[in-house]
Amino acid sequence: MSCGYNWRRAAADLVRYPVSNFMSVTQSMRNEVDALRNQINFHNYLYYVLDAPEVTDAEYDRLLRRLETLERQYPELITADSPTQRVGAAPVAEFAKVKHEIPMLSLGNAFSAEEVTQFDQRLCARLEVECIEYTVEPKLDGLAVSLLYEHGHLQRAATRGDGATGENITQNIRTLATVPLVLRGDDIPTRLEVRGEVIMTKSGFERLNREQAARGEKTFANPRNAAAGSLRQLDPRITAQRPLEIYCYGVGVIEGVPPSARHRELLQRLQSWGLRVYAGIEVARNIDDCLRTYAAMAQRRDQLPFDIDGMVYKVNDLRLQQELGFVSRAPRWAIAHKFPAQEEMTQLLAIDVQVGRTGAITPVARLQPVSVGGVIVTNATLHNQDEIERKDVRVGDTVIVRRAGDVIPEVVSVVLSRRPAHTQAFVMPCKCPVCGSDVERPDGEVVARCTGGLYCSAQRKEAIRHFAMRTAMDIEGLGDKLIEQLVDADMIKDVADIYRLQAASLAALDRMGDKSAANLVQALARSKETTLARFIFALGIRDVGEATAQSLANHVGDLDAIMAADGERLQQVPDIGPVVADSIQSFFRQSHNREVIERLLAAGVHWPAPMVTPASAQPLAGKTVVLTGTLTTMTRDAAKARLQALGAKVSASVSKKTHMVIAGAEAGSKLDKAQELGVRVLDEAAFLALLDEYAAQDAG
Ligand code: IVH
Repeated sequence: MSCGYNWRRAAADLVRYPVSNFMSVTQSMRNEVDALRNQINFHNYLYYVLDAPEVTDAEYDRLLRRLETLERQYPELITADSPTQRVGAAPVAEFAKVKHEIPMLSLGNAFSAEEVTQFDQRLCARLEVECIEYTVEPKLDGLAVSLLYEHGHLQRAATRGDGATGENITQNIRTLATVPLVLRGDDIPTRLEVRGEVIMTKSGFERLNREQAARGEKTFANPRNAAAGSLRQLDPRITAQRPLEIYCYGVGVIEGVPPSARHRELLQRLQSWGLRVYAGIEVARNIDDCLRTYAAMAQRRDQLPFDIDGMVYKVNDLRLQQELGFVSRAPRWAIAHKFPAQEEMTQLLAIDVQVGRTGAITPVARLQPVSVGGVIVTNATLHNQDEIERKDVRVGDTVIVRRAGDVIPEVVSVVLSRRPAHTQAFVMPCKCPVCGSDVERPDGEVVARCTGGLYCSAQRKEAIRHFAMRTAMDIEGLGDKLIEQLVDADMIKDVADIYRLQAASLAALDRMGDKSAANLVQALARSKETTLARFIFALGIRDVGEATAQSLANHVGDLDAIMAADGERLQQVPDIGPVVADSIQSFFRQSHNREVIERLLAAGVHWPAPMVTPASAQPLAGKTVVLTGTLTTMTRDAAKARLQALGAKVSASVSKKTHMVIAGAEAGSKLDKAQELGVRVLDEAAFLALLDEYAAQDAG
């Protein structure tokens, strides 16, 4: 096709399309607009549905801007389903009612493996079969919606409502980038009513709450409430600013295409039409496979980008689904296997404050004990003064407590309707409750700190506890209770004093005997042989975690050099920016810290001679490595630091130049790309083995 201007065609167009503007709309402009829309829709599909973008954001923006420019110049070219027309509808006074053609049902629940097995046995008996194949999907914790497409165009979107009648939220749903306004492909249904869940990701939720708080507006208790509140806005311009996404999981009406045989197949077709379906849906051969997938997901659910409250098992064979039918308001062919709840309600008995290693003062809620997700919770963090004010938490309140995985339980919100009379707002103490020193909160910081430093016994205890940790100096037997006693009895003041402890005086302490005293003395002696990285980490410098300590050791190599390094030198170390560099410098500037280090070295703490590997001899020097998916044994930052310490450059995107890709769970398009390009891929186990191998080479 020639790119030159076709005068003959333009002249013909002028006749065919009456001139409504100063400038005339020619067929080639229409073609360009069509082509732009197709390209934009295609890239949306690659990005949102297949999670495999092909163009950069800049290139995508260029296409969108070009389309906007043309539509601004020639408004008659604008169509309702142009990708530029997602936002812009006027606010409504109220939502119109929508009667669902096919009711939107709910799901039966199971709370244990037995209930799930009974469900399967019931179905097997009814169908007279030995075992049933199921799909296993996450039960997304958001809001059910129905999207109606006619001849591929989004006509209407509705909430579930009471299942029979919902509300028309078309204007709001149109603002979700993950909802196509037009379906793709030639084999699309003439009518399709697709169902899915609108959710907010955890990160989107946190960002939204931060923004709301900064504007002094109401914050949301959890992503589900935030999604619900955002979808029920009367002004679609507000919804458009909220980080909402959709995942489709089923259909109501479907006309004009041959029927699918299996549910999984149907989901695949939805995806091929441009609708977003969760990528990790599995087919289980039988119910035991379902339970295995459930158990694996229960371990990983905290790492998913969104909240799920269980897994849904659906009979895969659609003919069998039909045969099974429905009971009251739920299908017989599906069940939701719930995870233990992560949120519970309880009473707030008191608010105490705790003093951390760096003096940070954290308010802690003392709670009426409550079982959350199978664990009894008695304390929960309230983070800081601002958070308490924002949530308006008061002693005596009924609160919602949330516990997710291994993280510290937190108070999410207050049930205001249950607030007793005469409660009082919490005030942060102005003196440290442990040592009486002033509490200060520097301007612009959220954390209040005790100014007592090592004078404060709470800070000293925390510093010693940190020093003795398994990943620091690894002093077996020096536990919390013992540290309490040693500090309270003035037997130790700082970490260097630990090495002066004698078996005889230890044996005299509570719950210690000759044997445990002797064991501890031995453990102390053993701990003196360490590594530079462990030693630096053990010092408890603010912002210096294990990975940063390792990086310092690898790149600077020598304690004296680290202590003497200026900001510029420190920032050359991977993983270290200006804030961390500042913390390191101010730690070593304090004379009492230098003195403690001297005493530790004098007590015999030592490590192998410095071994700063010259860049060229580092095993991954000059190699580019990409991390993707979620690792279970370390954070992505920690993995990055370990790789950088081996000389690798850690990059965000996979190309032919990538040396290898480390793929954790849920790895998406980067993994596909690596496989496509034949780049070496390591899973988490192989990555850990590699790190061990390099560590062994280093030691040898
Ligand atoms: S299927 C007739 N699949 O759970 C089958 N529902 O308790 C109805 N949900 O209203 C739904 N994830 O909001 C199905 N993968 C999934 C789901 C899911 C979340 C929600 C949906 C529904 C509720 C039923």
